[in-house]
Amino acid sequence: MSGFSPDWLALRESADRRARSPTIDSAVAAALAHLDAPRICDLGAGTGASLRALAPRLGPRQHWVLMDHDPALAAAARRELCAQANAAQADGPDLLLDWGGRAIRVSFAAADLAADPAAALAFAPDLVTASAFFDLASAGWCRAFAAAMAGAGVMVHAALTCDGADAWLPPHPADAAVHAAFQAHQARDKGFGPAAGSLAGAALAGALTDAGHAVMIDDSPWRLGPDDRALIAALAAGTAGAAREQGGVAPDDLAAWEAARRQAASCRIGHVDLFARPAR
Ligand SMILES: C[S@@+](CC[C@H](N)C(=O)[O-])C[C@H]1O[C@@H](n2cnc3c(N)ncnc32)[C@H](O)[C@@H]1O
Repeated sequence: MSGFSPDWLALRESADRRARSPTIDSAVAAALAHLDAPRICDLGAGTGASLRALAPRLGPRQHWVLMDHDPALAAAARRELCAQANAAQADGPDLLLDWGGRAIRVSFAAADLAADPAAALAFAPDLVTASAFFDLASAGWCRAFAAAMAGAGVMVHAALTCDGADAWLPPHPADAAVHAAFQAHQARDKGFGPAAGSLAGAALAGALTDAGHAVMIDDSPWRLGPDDRALIAALAAGTAGAAREQGGVAPDDLAAWEAARRQAASCRIGHVDLFARPAR
């Protein structure tokens, strides 16, 4: 339904985990440390990667709400979390997990966030988090979301928002043309209006600041190398596919770029992480 397959999300998960800003993750953990069983709503939760990355840094009791519009990804999340937990049991529609000694309740919420930027507030969260999500949204959606979260005094954490600072090695003559076509494709409507794409981190930071939150940002690029061959190949294919659909790159140049990039020695794919909390 969403176009994000569990296989793609699994392929990127370890690169995402390595890329997350330790500074931002630590700030999130410190901000939640005084709460018993903080309530955390994960927007566009997919198969639950945010929980797997962040929960080990948080306290002994946690309540997560995984929100997504794709029921197949929610089912995959349930399977993955049960498979990776030390123990798991159902409690009605929720899961109760023993996650490395932490007691975590996991609820699942089906919601079209495009239609309701404030949907998370129904769960009275202490923190709204998201990973690889905000670049899908429009700048206007980010403003509405920021106003709702700041209005309710809710902390916001956005991990792994693309910022377009990509670099492949060694350089290729078609790099600039492919990058421009890919960026244009990334700005297409993903259901939220024209996507903010690589400008989403700045759009969200500006909107949260305007709404009264104190915002911190840190870079969180993927740094892919010889151990990431499968991800590099998938990324090259996906980037070339988007550029092909967008147009503007000569087909032979694009084919040569894709063939070279599938074998690339390394690449950096730019992201930013953000944490925002009520200023006082
Ligand atoms: C790139 S994936 C990231 C998934 C997960 N956060 C991760 O880091 O692996 C984007 C996620 O946003 C969800 N999504 C996209 N549009 C949505 C919408 N309108 N409402 C709710 N979820 C949406 C997709 O189903 C997908 O799970």
